Amino acid sequence: MSETVKINFGDKELDCPIVTSTEGGEKAIDISKLRSSTGYITMDPGFSNTGSCKSAITYLDGDKGILRYRGIPIEQLAQQSTFVETSYLLIYGKLPNQKELEDFSEAFNEHSMIHEDMKNFFDSYPSSTHPMASLSAMICSMSAYYPEFVKDDPTKEEIDRIAIQMLSKVRTICAFAYKKSIGEPVVYPRYDLKYVPNFLNMMFSSPTHPYKLVDEVVHAMQVLLILHADHEQNCSTSTVRMVGSSRANLYASISAGICALWGPLHGGANQAVIEMLQEIQKDGGNVEKYIAKAKDKNDNFRLMGFGHRVYKNFDPRAKIIKKCADDLLNKLGINDPLLDLAKRMEAAALKDEYFVERKLYPNVDFYSGIIYRATGIPLNMFPVMFAIGRMPGWIAHWKEMIQDPTTKIARPFQIYTGENKHDYVPIEKRS
Ligand code: ACO
Repeated sequence: MSETVKINFGDKELDCPIVTSTEGGEKAIDISKLRSSTGYITMDPGFSNTGSCKSAITYLDGDKGILRYRGIPIEQLAQQSTFVETSYLLIYGKLPNQKELEDFSEAFNEHSMIHEDMKNFFDSYPSSTHPMASLSAMICSMSAYYPEFVKDDPTKEEIDRIAIQMLSKVRTICAFAYKKSIGEPVVYPRYDLKYVPNFLNMMFSSPTHPYKLVDEVVHAMQVLLILHADHEQNCSTSTVRMVGSSRANLYASISAGICALWGPLHGGANQAVIEMLQEIQKDGGNVEKYIAKAKDKNDNFRLMGFGHRVYKNFDPRAKIIKKCADDLLNKLGINDPLLDLAKRMEAAALKDEYFVERKLYPNVDFYSGIIYRATGIPLNMFPVMFAIGRMPGWIAHWKEMIQDPTTKIARPFQIYTGENKHDYVPIEKRS
């Protein structure tokens, strides 16, 4: 017999089924009949206690610091996989065989160009435009250039094509946006280069200075993209699912996800961390002063790159990134004073009662910016790198959501706290 929980409201009683995860023994009380049976709704600002869906894509245990894509530990993927292979895993639910991987990679090549007219968009934006604004607009605009994919009810084959198209074109869009922002001619994708080298080449090659690919840089970038590829129902992925639940197409849904990611409490934190470290460094590098500011409830300052809604022990991605940053800087012979400062901030926070009590640890964004800096990615492109990495996760969730016949349009309720009914007053009679 399936487990249930009884909820009593005065003389009313409701049996709520328990939903159990396939891993980790997580349990949820299914309250989907609550309002229709009792008239009550639940209140959960920030959704800290709310499951919005069932999902078979990513498993996360925040207390144990576990993250797995389709059952495979993140540590193994970061060490042995590539971003393209990991994308396949997330979107199709299994690792590809040799032929499947070759076909998948080949399709990336076929879809790597963007419509020539789309280049005009970049000219219309002011040079001060944040690249997350132009990325979000460009992804949504793809619906105008590729209308054949704009469907309420796409077939499996159409979903596969739009997924590859999106994954491949996003790196071209991002590199073009960067080139335009620095006033250089765009560099087109090359057939002979794989995903990450192709992106780096489009970013950093110029007619006078061909970009020399460095294995360590390619590897570090590969690792970062894999680590960002999915993170179950985070703010941006939930946004993609929410927008998609209205049957909005993938371009529109992902464009919304990019906007959600942009915020400094989410994917914009990687940029905010470096800005924070630069500010602390400029102010003399006084770690204690800024730890005290972060703890002061009358001060708006927060230790960016610290804390997480789910991880309450350590963020496994941060562990891998910290080592990756150390390795890369060593290999490139770079001595970045911000890395040293970040380590001092981390050490001070980890032994401070405030951070220990609240289980605040470095998250994925704390050290990733150090790597981006070392590779030459400009500061305002850091959240864009996150967006490229998160693309397969967003696609996998959108696909899972629209293929699930139980999906309903996302439409939460509220408790109204405004004025009670009163009459309209014509303007001449208002005080
Ligand atoms: N610095 C100082 N105090 C913090 C921090 C921080 N970075 N993070 C949380 N706290 C404190 C809060 O003030 C709160 O204290 P209180 O209990 O005394 O009121 C307590 O820790 C719990 O924090 P909440 O904000 O309630 O935690 P929540 O789960 O809502 O927020 C978040 C998580 C947004 C990540 C938060 O920790 C934060 O703002 N971190 C800094 C921004 C950041 O690094 N974001 C990236 C997250 S990872 C990602 O999205 C990719």
